[in-house]
Amino acid sequence: MRILAIETSCDETAVAVLQISGPIEKPDIKVLGNALLSQAKLHEKYGGVYPNLAKREHEKNLPPLLEQALKEAVTNDRQLTTDNLDLIAVTAGPGLEPALWTGITFAERLGEKWNKPVIPIDHMEGHIYSVLYRTESNPKSEILNPKSALKMPALALLVSGGHTELVHVKDFGNYEIMGRTRDDAVGEAFDKVARMLGLPYPGGPEISRLAEKSRNRSGEDTIRLPRPMLHSKNLDFSYSGLKTAVLYRIKAEKKTNNQFKEDMARAFEEAAVEVLIEKTRLALIELENKVKTLIVAGGVAANVYLAQELHKLTREFPEISLRIPTKLLSTDNAIMIGLAAFVKVSCQPEIIKQEAPLEASGNLSLVSWKK
Ligand code: KG4
Ligand code: ZN
Repeated sequence: MRILAIETSCDETAVAVLQISGPIEKPDIKVLGNALLSQAKLHEKYGGVYPNLAKREHEKNLPPLLEQALKEAVTNDRQLTTDNLDLIAVTAGPGLEPALWTGITFAERLGEKWNKPVIPIDHMEGHIYSVLYRTESNPKSEILNPKSALKMPALALLVSGGHTELVHVKDFGNYEIMGRTRDDAVGEAFDKVARMLGLPYPGGPEISRLAEKSRNRSGEDTIRLPRPMLHSKNLDFSYSGLKTAVLYRIKAEKKTNNQFKEDMARAFEEAAVEVLIEKTRLALIELENKVKTLIVAGGVAANVYLAQELHKLTREFPEISLRIPTKLLSTDNAIMIGLAAFVKVSCQPEIIKQEAPLEASGNLSLVSWKK
């Protein structure tokens, strides 16, 4: 199956051309072309993503990115023409509506021009199925999962700038949300704390870099922050209190020198990650050893400290295999949208023929399409 995939839900404009075959648990994936442009630098001065600016940038960037992805795809597969693409997949939500509409309109115009079906994809399903793709340059994943299939049922910890969710993936296309954040998403908290410390957007990688410096300098953490909802008996999260605790601690400090910033980044990262780990443990226990795979996806899955703690956690559950995407696949991209489309169309070939008009849905919540 040849898929052209488009992602514009937030501040990454991305287009990918994929050729995928084989079983959904272990597909043979070739990324023929992949073009991505991050707007992060442009949004930096706002400390977050500014929706109308994102929309304008997506509109400007989609045509050249499409050209780039197709050009690369043709060099990898000389047979490729727009005629032998099977479908176009586009993110329909959740995300920023003006940004989502840009991708949808673009995909629909291409669909008309090339006479190809356009399939709407849930961005969070994209994150879940991002773990299907593993490359030689992904040694971490290769060691953990030597060419293994993605076994169901799975538990997915989805951690991004807009989401913090624990999802029981009972099977491909069958989901139950077990817990979610009641306020800020964990990635959002990373971004806000980074801003308080005067670090650039997106904050996750910066916090992580500083936290590592603090850990290398001293074995002990010097600042203690709260772990919101750590002991609540449910699987929900809350990150706004932690963010406020950081704010008060910064205000109380007269001089915020580099060492203080590094220690604060570490204190925040360790508090945020501890809650993610504990809730994941609780969910695994609640699912009574039924889970075969732990999927961790979304931008925050690129966090090295989180990955280390997850490895420790899965040692307690030796029958579970841990799947974390590569950095390229954990933050927003179009490859994952193509992968989710492959899963959906393989299970339900009839959706290709459905001609309902596509709509952007900013608050789209993961829905099952298979029982
Ligand atoms: O999935 P994503 O690219 O976009 C959304 O769908 O939100 O996630 C972006 C989020 C940002 O909040 C960013 O700060 C965070 O992922 N992030 C990280 C790291 N890299 C990206 N957070 C912690 N550590 C990282 N290394
Ligand atoms: Zn995302």
